[in-house]
Amino acid sequence: MRGILGRPVLLAAALLASGGLFAGTAVTAAAQDTPSELAKTTDYQQARWHKLHFKPAIDTATNEQCLACHQEVLTGKVREASPAGLKAANAEAWYQTLDTYTGSQDTFHARHLTSAYAKQVMDLKCVFCHQGADPREKAPGSHATGQEPAAFTLRKTVDPSQTCLKCHGQFPNQNMGLDPWVQVREGLETPETPNGCLTCHAEQFRTVRHQVSYLKADAIETLAKTKADACYGCHGGRAWYRISYPYPRHPWPGMDAAVPDWAKDRPSESEAKYRLPQK
Ligand code: HEC
Ligand code: HEC
Ligand code: HEC
Ligand code: HEC
Ligand code: HEC
Repeated sequence: MRGILGRPVLLAAALLASGGLFAGTAVTAAAQDTPSELAKTTDYQQARWHKLHFKPAIDTATNEQCLACHQEVLTGKVREASPAGLKAANAEAWYQTLDTYTGSQDTFHARHLTSAYAKQVMDLKCVFCHQGADPREKAPGSHATGQEPAAFTLRKTVDPSQTCLKCHGQFPNQNMGLDPWVQVREGLETPETPNGCLTCHAEQFRTVRHQVSYLKADAIETLAKTKADACYGCHGGRAWYRISYPYPRHPWPGMDAAVPDWAKDRPSESEAKYRLPQK
């Protein structure tokens, strides 16, 4: 940790050495505090209004900084049985039928940050989803000290259309000229080629993909060779929405120069803040 936070800590030290007015208050170096320093915050109001909950500090916050105060999001467990006595182990949700799903039911945060599958294919940060937590009101732009509009969605903890929808939208079959996946997959998947998506996506279409810091692109492609739902999982198999995310459309080798109508407004690159250097 020291390595990563080395520079900001020095900055704080310089402020203290200069006899800065704020020396000693928790807010001076809020964004730079190490997890162990953060964990010493005992005042509830100071913690709740901590700078790390707001822009700009939240943009650079590390998981370790957030977890210094919020470890319960990862240590909490789901109930083994409902209050009425129904055992979680006896229930199977539709998304649990995907062939990448393993283990017993777990919490939302664990499934995105610490499950074996999450760690294999993604590298999500707290701040990928959490763009701020304003204790006053969950309505952006509603008061002078509030967050910028669009920092998060009205009354929601996160902005679902820039987070969840990316991995939990519908299978965009119209854009592929296909029927719904449940109808076409049988004809494309065999024991030797279990993943039907790769029929078209191994070499033909949209082969430049997932070059973003929160996904593990190579691991996804390797896994897809043996797991039928490796691609479908994030592109329709766990859909919580009736729409699909409008993905960027990266030019790929052999691409037709004519842009289809549905793709006219699409960016040709991932969002800058997550983009990785192209291979
Ligand atoms: C110094 C301790 C501290 C740090 C660091 C901290 N938080 Fe918090 N956070 C709190 C406290 C205290 C609350 C208020 C909890 C309550 O009232 O139940 C809170 C509230 C929240 C809430 C709202 C919870 C709710 O139930 O509405 C979210 C979301 C949140 N924090 C996320 C984060 C994220 C993400 C980070 C890192 C960028 C972070 N926090 C860093 C202490 C901290
Ligand atoms: C995939 C998106 C996502 C990621 C990544 C994520 N969160 Fe959350 N978090 C949410 C959502 C959505 C909620 C609201 C859940 C609800 O309302 O029940 C939430 C709720 C919370 C809360 C409120 C208490 C609770 O359990 O409901 C805290 C605190 C929190 N998150 C902290 C964190 C921290 C710390 C991290 C990183 C270690 C993190 N979150 C990573 C989406 C995310
Ligand atoms: C970067 C991709 C990604 C993003 C963004 C994302 N998810 Fe997920 N989500 C996944 C993956 C992958 C799994 C399956 C994890 C596993 O099998 O362990 C999953 C699982 C789930 C589950 C099932 C949990 C369980 O008990 O098994 C729910 C519910 C869920 N996501 C809701 C959300 C919500 C709500 C958001 C936005 C706040 C969100 N997800 C953002 C990829 C994502
Ligand atoms: C029969 C060939 C074919 C199969 C099978 C196929 N796709 Fe596609 N896919 C396409 C074509 C064609 C496009 C659009 C190419 C373009 O941008 O012009 C596309 C586009 C996409 C896009 C981008 C959509 C958008 O709106 O930008 C995603 C995501 C995608 N496919 C995922 C999948 C997944 C996941 C599977 C398997 C569950 C799959 N595809 C199976 C041909 C196919
Ligand atoms: C963990 C979730 C996850 C998995 C697994 C996954 N994707 Fe994606 N996919 C995404 C996200 C998120 C994006 C948007 C990334 C971005 O903004 O550049 C995306 C983008 C795409 C695109 C758009 C490409 C472009 O032009 O930028 C295609 C096509 C696609 N995925 C197909 C697939 C195929 C095929 C597989 C299996 C080999 C797969 N996905 C597995 C989450 C996933």
